[in-house]
Amino acid sequence: MSESQADTKGPDFAVGVPTDSIGDGKMQVGHVGDDAVLLARRGDEFFAIGAHCTHYGGPLADGLIVDDTVRCPWHHACFSLRTGEALKAPALSPVSCWSTEVRDGKVFARGKTERKPTIRIASAKESPSRIVIIGGGAAGFAAAEMLRRQDYQGSIVMLSDDDASPVDRPNLSKDYLAGTAPEDWIPLRGDDFYGEQHIELRIKTAVNAIDPSAREAVLGDGSKVAYDRLLLATGAEPIRLPLPGMDLPHVFTLRTLRDCRAIIARSATAKRAVVMGASFIGLEVAASLRERGIEVHVIAPEKRPMERILGSQLGDFVRSLHEEHGVIFHLEETVTAIGAKQVTLKSGGTLDADLVVAGVGVRPRLALAEKAGLSTDRGVMVNEYLETSAPGIFAAGDIAKWPDPHSGASIRVEHWVVAERQGQSAALNMLGARKKFDDVPFFWSQHYDLPINYVGHAESWDEIAIEGDVGKRDCLVRYKSKGRVLAVASIYRDVESLTEEMKMEQ
Ligand SMILES: Cc1cc2nc3c(=O)[nH]c(=O)nc-3n(C[C@H](O)[C@H](O)[C@H](O)COP(=O)(O)OP(=O)(O)OC[C@H]3O[C@@H](n4cnc5c(N)ncnc54)[C@H](O)[C@@H]3O)c2cc1C
Ligand code: FES
Repeated sequence: MSESQADTKGPDFAVGVPTDSIGDGKMQVGHVGDDAVLLARRGDEFFAIGAHCTHYGGPLADGLIVDDTVRCPWHHACFSLRTGEALKAPALSPVSCWSTEVRDGKVFARGKTERKPTIRIASAKESPSRIVIIGGGAAGFAAAEMLRRQDYQGSIVMLSDDDASPVDRPNLSKDYLAGTAPEDWIPLRGDDFYGEQHIELRIKTAVNAIDPSAREAVLGDGSKVAYDRLLLATGAEPIRLPLPGMDLPHVFTLRTLRDCRAIIARSATAKRAVVMGASFIGLEVAASLRERGIEVHVIAPEKRPMERILGSQLGDFVRSLHEEHGVIFHLEETVTAIGAKQVTLKSGGTLDADLVVAGVGVRPRLALAEKAGLSTDRGVMVNEYLETSAPGIFAAGDIAKWPDPHSGASIRVEHWVVAERQGQSAALNMLGARKKFDDVPFFWSQHYDLPINYVGHAESWDEIAIEGDVGKRDCLVRYKSKGRVLAVASIYRDVESLTEEMKMEQ
């Protein structure tokens, strides 16, 4: 989505507004010409930047100012108020930035300033000449983009066994699958980007092994790619249950654009779908298929959808939300076999289905790390700089298990924003920045038009404190242990969610 949607609402900042019309730490939306502009004040300083987030167009004025940054209310991207730079994913592109002038009690937005990224790495002393990234997903892409943003001049080779360039994966279970997102939303960047940025993106290229002592990645055809620094960002793959019928042509898992397109193609004629799994992917798929008018049955072993992550209250709410949209749940139930026209249930019955999607979890792709002898423990172990046990090899995204300073534990998560931010941090550290990865984990999920945001990390809790009303879709749900807030889920409480994140950071 474009940051500069022709939008002339609010005051014209080119002709100025009284300085006292905007309080300290506050924001106001107006315009300069056709550009929607956010005017923000911090003490005596005024900043003017584009009003819409470059991720999905979120209204930055509804977000939160933290120091000289503004955070997006929708998925917590962070922009510099001084330069417009997208400092933290999921936004990767800057917003426009205008210079401001205070005169005669008014503040004016003047010309657009050149968008110079904030270079954070002072010295290129350690600059390696060849960086290889294994993985063309969230972490791999964000790393490559950040390396070039930092003016890194060496070679970047990105190896991906996917058959598509890096895509907006979260969209594959949401709008794109529902048929409401145009094609051009899906690539993270157009094909030109890679050539222009001198990023050698090699898709359909599997890496079979890495040799840490020779500093080489070994490809499927036996050829070798040498590196000075390596980023492992191999992500995760869907679990395929060992069920009779999993290989039938109407049975799918969902990870890649190709998977998504195959489900869409089948949806054109499907009447009744069975979705195995009632967690995020399964239920987002259920919602998207309902939007396509397909009858959807969700089969899952648990008592309540998402209870393990969101607790019973939100679990019940999510169930009723889907039921309102016509989804039929078969909980405390599993599929034992899949046939051409129906699935067999453990309880004995059968259900007709001409489309089956298994969303029963993912497994991190650890094979390369394990084979190379890197330290692993249901994830690739990394230190606070995201470096693995092998010097010069970093890991980020769904495979990385990092020391999370907030929970005090080594954790591995499967969140888009975390993967991108780890890719960005790993990029800086491959250039010698020694930047600790200490971001608070964040993820979002979307069901029909309802977003759920989640900050922090809680594998278990002894108390759930609810502020607001879950049923009225207006709530903040705190997961606590011994009185300490570990994580917060929210529905339409965006500023509170950002505030909770800020508190956790402190
Ligand atoms: C449909 C869907 C919807 C999602 N929605 C959300 C959401 O709403 N919110 C959220 O927070 N998270 C969501 N996620 C999770 C999120 O997408 C992941 O956490 C994120 O993509 C992880 O990034 P990554 O870079 O670690 O891995 P990936 O994005 O999976 O990228 C891994 C890359 O490595 C490549 N690769 C792996 N092994 C090799 C090899 N040996 N050789 C060469 N290449 C290799 C793969 O081809 C791929 O390009 C969703 C995931 C899916 C599948
Ligand atoms: S719209 Fe701003 S972070 Fe997604």
